[in-house]
This record gives sequence, structure tokens and C-alpha cells, in this order.
Amino acid sequence: MTERTAILFDGDPGVDDAFALALAARHLDIVGLTTVFGNASVAHTTRNALAVAGHLNLTCPVVSGADTPIEAPNAQMLEHARTIHGEDGMGGADLQTDRLPDGDDAPAFIVDTLRGSGATLVATGPLTNVARALQLDPTLADGLDISLMGGSATNGNVTAVAEFNIHADPEAAAYVFASGANLTVAPLDITSTFGLGEAEIARLEAGNTLARELSAAARFYRGRQLERFGRGYAPIHDVCAIVPLIRPALITFETMHVAVECAGTQTRGMTVCDRRSPVVAEPSNATLGMQADGTAIVELLMEALL
Ligand code: BDR
Ligand code: CA
Repeated sequence: MTERTAILFDGDPGVDDAFALALAARHLDIVGLTTVFGNASVAHTTRNALAVAGHLNLTCPVVSGADTPIEAPNAQMLEHARTIHGEDGMGGADLQTDRLPDGDDAPAFIVDTLRGSGATLVATGPLTNVARALQLDPTLADGLDISLMGGSATNGNVTAVAEFNIHADPEAAAYVFASGANLTVAPLDITSTFGLGEAEIARLEAGNTLARELSAAARFYRGRQLERFGRGYAPIHDVCAIVPLIRPALITFETMHVAVECAGTQTRGMTVCDRRSPVVAEPSNATLGMQADGTAIVELLMEALL
């Protein structure tokens, strides 16, 4: 049997984070699960993470982290999160758990768990815990692989140019992009182009308890996507941060330099992607997925859940 890649999963579940966790549990060795504010308060995202981890029989530590960004929370981010994922982050789905988190210092846990481990860090929420971990131990970035969902080389989803995870904490994102870690990025350019339609949600509804609960969350989330973005499917953004670790051939990647705009009044949280000729472009610091086989990725997720 081939050895599974070890990952530490940091996220803000969140409907699509929950799907990403389920796909990761099927194919990867999850050595730790840390939570951050984002799609809801960290109290909600931690409870959601514990509940999903319970259904997936994950025994790794679950540790909560930041409840606010490095600077002040922004009203647009809070409104976006509530609208898309509901007050509890899971669209009111009935996810139950009695388990309590194993700690509340995610950055320290990330440093202790990753140091010398060779595990990949997966990030599916605002990058606050990740940046704080890299600040705690500046040597951590050397040789560290991070696969994250965030940013866009074109348009945003919270503002015209900013994607939610980056916009939620631009200072943290800027730190991570400048850290020297090996970054693989799933931006909106791929993650917003496909997702779960009614047929897939109905298949989940007929599945096991977790699939059924996630189908309810996905139905809520898909409704909000229709209202807000006019799309008839539930994008599974965060799942695209797992795919490079298990089926990289489903995504076409480009390397480039990415800087995070922290100052602009119109552009705060924008990922400035330098796709100019290599002759003039800044040296690349990230590998971004720019095209994806959405049908195959949806099917990969369905197989993991059913
Ligand atoms: C990202 O923001 C959140 O709403 C999702 O969970 C995903 O991580 C998409 O912009
Ligand atoms: Ca997320």
C-alpha cells in the first residue's frame, strides 16, 4: 500500500471546508486540524470541525485559533460570510458533537506539529493562524509545502478584485505569500467555475449521516450562490486545495509572483498576480491552478462521500 501524504488542515468550516475535509480524510493522513474565524466565528468553525471530524472518525487533535484578523475585522467580510454560509457557518445543518477542542493555540500547535515532520499545511480559510505560526518560528517556511485556497488572478467575490480568504486578513496573506514557503494556490479562477448541482446534492441526501447533513448545508449554500452570484451550483472552492495533493493532473498550474495589496481603498485584499513575460515579471513565489477538470473533481468528492 502506498504511504499517504501527511497534512495539517487549517480551515474555517464552512460548507466547502467540510467537503475538503471529507476528501482529505479519504486520501490523506490528517495529523492535525486547526480552526480560524472566517465563514463564522471561531467558536462555530471549531464546533463544525469537531462535528465533521467525528463523522469521519478522525482521531487527530483539533485545536482552535484566531477569532480576528491581524488588523480589525471588516464589515464586508462578516456580511459575506453570514450570507453565504449562514450564522453557524453550515447553513443551519444539524451537525452534532460532544467533543471539545484539544487546545486553543493553533499557531503554536502548527509550529510544534510541522517542525521537521515533512507534513504539508493545507489552508482553506483566512491565513491568520498560518501567518502567526510562520512569525513564531521564522525557520518553519524553509521547505514547507502549503496548499491553500485563496485569491484570484481576475475578479474577486467579496469586492470586485478581492477573494474572501485573502480579504478577511490581507496582512496575514501578505506575510504568507512573502514567506518563502512552497505555495500551491487554488484561486477563484478555477474554484468558482464548477460545483455541486441539484443531482449531486440529491445523491448526498440519500447517503450516510454525514453526506445527508452536508447535503442540507450544500442546498442552503447553493441557494445563496444563486441569489448572490447567479450561479446554479454550489462551488467547492476548498476542495481544490486538496486536489493537488491527490490528483494533480486534474489541474493545470502556472507559476507566477503574487503580492497581496494591503493598502488600496478599492483593492485591499487583492492578489496581484504578475503574469507578464518572465523577462520583466517579478520572480515567482507561487504555483496557481488556472484550469481544472471540474467534472472529475466533483466526482472525486462524490466518491469520497458515498
Ligand atoms: C472561500 O471563502 C469561503 O467562503 C470558502 O469557504 C472558501 O474558503 C472562497 O472565496
Ligand atoms: Ca473556507
